[in-house]
Amino acid sequence: MKLLVTGGCGFIGSNFIRHVLGAHPEDRVVNLDRLTYAGNPANLADVEGDTRYAFVHGDICDAALVRDVARGVDAVVNLAASTHVDRSLMEPDEFLRTDVFGVFTLLEAVRDLKIPRLLHISTDEVYGSVEHGSSREGDALRPSNPYSASKAGGDLLALAYWQTHRVPVVITRSSNNFGPFQYPEKVIPLFVTNALEDTPLPLYGDGRNVRDWLYVLDNCAAIDLVLRRGKDGEVYNIGGGHEVENVVLTRQILRLTGKPETLIQPVRDRPGHDRRYALDSKKVQQLGWAPRHAFAAALEATVAWYREHEAWWRPLKSGEFRAYYARQYGRG
Ligand code: NAD
Ligand code: TYD
Repeated sequence: MKLLVTGGCGFIGSNFIRHVLGAHPEDRVVNLDRLTYAGNPANLADVEGDTRYAFVHGDICDAALVRDVARGVDAVVNLAASTHVDRSLMEPDEFLRTDVFGVFTLLEAVRDLKIPRLLHISTDEVYGSVEHGSSREGDALRPSNPYSASKAGGDLLALAYWQTHRVPVVITRSSNNFGPFQYPEKVIPLFVTNALEDTPLPLYGDGRNVRDWLYVLDNCAAIDLVLRRGKDGEVYNIGGGHEVENVVLTRQILRLTGKPETLIQPVRDRPGHDRRYALDSKKVQQLGWAPRHAFAAALEATVAWYREHEAWWRPLKSGEFRAYYARQYGRG
């Protein structure tokens, strides 16, 4: 297959491109990425010399460019997005632009060029907080912050293009990912690297919010399966099946880094903080997927990766990152 992957310099995108090039020797990948603060070419340094891989610096909202790079591909896999909830509370504009208008631009190109597949990557957060049970693909969308609302907008637009124009769209909605190359604003890499630096771990609210953790390579395998075997117009949940309260996760990270629990710093809760996400993943399991990485071992491997790749994350925690934290904690 010849793939256009958007957002390939981000966390999941870079892991996915490496997965595809490893698992499918005959595939070729063009990576279109705008290189925002979260996009890092170093995430793919090891595949730069691969003749099956090409990088294009650009924006998914640029219709002419998208058409140019999409021409002749067998599928578009959209991983380009603004992704951090806390940033969406302070600066929502970019979320609406990329996560809604960007999806629209891709849909128009896929429709126009008659590309056989658009796999759009979404999130469990579109279902909103789930106090009991687990979300199924047909459940109502009840997003509660500008990030999840813009992702829900992108999903609904994609499904509308399937209904009205039969644009061959497939959507995956995964739970929280963790693993190598995750920008250190998200809770696991933030807490691991803070612990390694002996700086406090800012735990929001009572620390009892629950997330369902999925190792990024398990998500890549699921995305790959849905790309090749998923049905047009369908949504597939991808859940890790491992729910943990934030405070429990924090203690595990401190144990793995050998640091004291006194580093835990309770801070003001995130406004509109979703209490719990949980997915019913039977549908993707019926396609033949199951997570292969046990949570404890994958978390241990992730901590070891950050310990061994200080040269990767340390520069990311200065400059833009510091300015963002000053904005976040200066907000009142
Ligand atoms: P990320 O923030 O690490 O990377 C996003 C990438 O998109 C970056 O490389 C960035 O430069 C690029 N990008 C942003 N705006 C762009 C634009 N307008 N044009 C082109 N490129 C642009 O994100 P991630 O964690 O890898 O998430 C990828 C996708 O998976 C997103 O759609 C996200 O909503 C979804 N998702 C992520 C998680 C998670 O836990 N990380 C969970 C569920 C779903
Ligand atoms: P995050 O990694 O931002 O993912 P999401 O909000 O998209 O699920 O946060 C995961 C959980 O960790 C969430 O309940 C918020 C919490 N959290 C903290 O307690 N402190 C932090 O500094 C961050 C970034 C998150």
